[in-house]
Amino acid sequence: MKSDIVNKIIELREEGFSYKHLSSKYGYSEELIKSWISKYKKQLNTYNKDHLEEKYQINSEFFEAIKPKSILDLYCGRNRFWADNYGSDCKVISNDALVDKEARPDYKMNIRADQLLQAYLLVDKHFDLIDIDPYGSPRDCIEAGIKLADKGLIVTFGDFKNCCKRFSSESKNLFQEFYGINLPKEKVTIDHMAEFVVKLSNYRFKVWGIISWKSCDRIYFIKED
Ligand SMILES: C[S@@+](CC[C@H](N)C(=O)[O-])C[C@H]1O[C@@H](n2cnc3c(N)ncnc32)[C@H](O)[C@@H]1O
Repeated sequence: MKSDIVNKIIELREEGFSYKHLSSKYGYSEELIKSWISKYKKQLNTYNKDHLEEKYQINSEFFEAIKPKSILDLYCGRNRFWADNYGSDCKVISNDALVDKEARPDYKMNIRADQLLQAYLLVDKHFDLIDIDPYGSPRDCIEAGIKLADKGLIVTFGDFKNCCKRFSSESKNLFQEFYGINLPKEKVTIDHMAEFVVKLSNYRFKVWGIISWKSCDRIYFIKED
């Protein structure tokens, strides 16, 4: 019974409800809820199995579409999908700032994604494919990702549904602040986020595909011919 409630709380958190809201709704402390979420993130492989399977399937189709020779996986997670599946076909750099060292002692790169991108920008190091897959907002990686990706760019908008729901009662319009979208929040769709990236890339990239889940959307961009 309790695990049903925990699962429900995790689900609502994924949909963008604040810890404060969940704490007052269910009567558990914010700290306890945070500890459940953190434990859940470590167990994502099983909790989000369908979501992951779909993501990995589309990743593979995208790989075939662009046939990259180099990949930068900025938020690789515990599964390290690109390195573990395509590491022998091409050069993959995997990074994750918070990866559980005990789970993956072979991880070498533990840097904040935006900082890593800035370091690569300084030396103008390009990759055929860059994957930006945060839980939250990808905003601080988008410009550099566009500059350094030569064939394909993948961006997960972990903040998109949060902007729609979690902040819906706030006067601040995060779409405007983050993405320069001058529309009422309820009118913003994932296509507007796609358009934001396409325009920012000066139309060098176009949308190849979009997958949408309860908590986020992920857009695959491919270089225009
Ligand atoms: C959505 S998960 C990644 C899932 C993974 N790409 C996959 O497909 O299996 C987001 C990951 O970002 C990591 N992370 C959180 N903040 C980060 C940051 N600032 N820079 C790099 N990684 C970060 C987390 O540890 C987590 O593993």
